Amino acid sequence: MTATSTILVTGATGNVGRQVVSHLMAVHGGAVRALTRNPATAGLPDGVDVRQGDLADSGALETAAQGADAVFLMWPFHDDAPAATVVNALKRCVGQVVFLSSGAVLDGIVPERQPHPVGRSHAAVERLIERSGLRWTHLRPSTFAANTVWWADQIRVGDVVQGAYGAVPMALLHEADIAAVAVRALTESGHDRAVHVLTGPEVLTQAEQVRTIGEVLGRPVRWQELSREAARQRLLADPEFPDTFVDPLLDGYAAMLAAPPTATTDTVESVTGRPARTFRTWVGDHAADFG
Ligand SMILES: NC(=O)c1ccc[n+]([C@@H]2O[C@H](COP(=O)([O-])OP(=O)(O)OC[C@H]3O[C@@H](n4cnc5c(N)ncnc54)[C@H](OP(=O)(O)O)[C@@H]3O)[C@@H](O)[C@H]2O)c1
Repeated sequence: MTATSTILVTGATGNVGRQVVSHLMAVHGGAVRALTRNPATAGLPDGVDVRQGDLADSGALETAAQGADAVFLMWPFHDDAPAATVVNALKRCVGQVVFLSSGAVLDGIVPERQPHPVGRSHAAVERLIERSGLRWTHLRPSTFAANTVWWADQIRVGDVVQGAYGAVPMALLHEADIAAVAVRALTESGHDRAVHVLTGPEVLTQAEQVRTIGEVLGRPVRWQELSREAARQRLLADPEFPDTFVDPLLDGYAAMLAAPPTATTDTVESVTGRPARTFRTWVGDHAADFG
């Protein structure tokens, strides 16, 4: 990308997209566009060219992407049904895509055989992008630290977090680190056909994550193990949590328990020049969410 390129950010009001937008506004000399379904409530920074549209609506996507040079693509769907339409629309409009994929995608396995549903849908999108003729970079992040906000309701009113699979280890990632890598890939050369596998700097079980949140908040908080079915019912009863994602989430935890992702990568540091932020730092940045 040149300093005057136009970059479109999808998922621009989400955990990662919002950080990508603000980071681009700080470092990129060209125009920054943001796609959202609700511009009125998007709360994006001044100077961002906010466009209304749903990713599933290829007409709206094409209108938003017209004249842009590159796109940050976030996949909000739980399957790959609209993938061909989205990738074809991008192909007609932009030259480069940086795709927020998932660490659930396993190398060397075709999308249809990926063991995890999130891996299946993201691998299918990756493959379409690779075959599209677009210049591409895939980001494959491990679990987001932001997922722990799902516990905020419990932590605000007590000292216990109930859930299943407390022993699952994760190398939680700060959304700012994912965004920093995305911005490098969007604005620098050297990332074409790169698959950036991103993790946080340390592996913590869910029970350890809960303890860390308590330490940062200055009061003890502990994990209480539930059966899978009890945890499932709890998530289904949560109006904020999408019902369709309950089983994929629990299946993902079960898979991570069976084959723990013990390794961390140094990709955040090698790409951005800064070590990945710790989970403790993330909690400090988001303490108000738990207060
Ligand atoms: N959470 C994890 O642990 C994890 C780990 C690895 C990979 N990932 C992947 O990361 C992605 C999630 O990123 P995130 O946490 O930054 O997202 P997020 O916070 O869940 O936000 C998603 C944003 O996407 C937009 N959106 C939703 N449906 C849309 C649609 N149909 N058309 C256009 N925009 C739509 C929404 O914006 P508007 O409401 O403004 O339209 C929303 O703000 C997913 O693909 C997930 O699989 C997540």
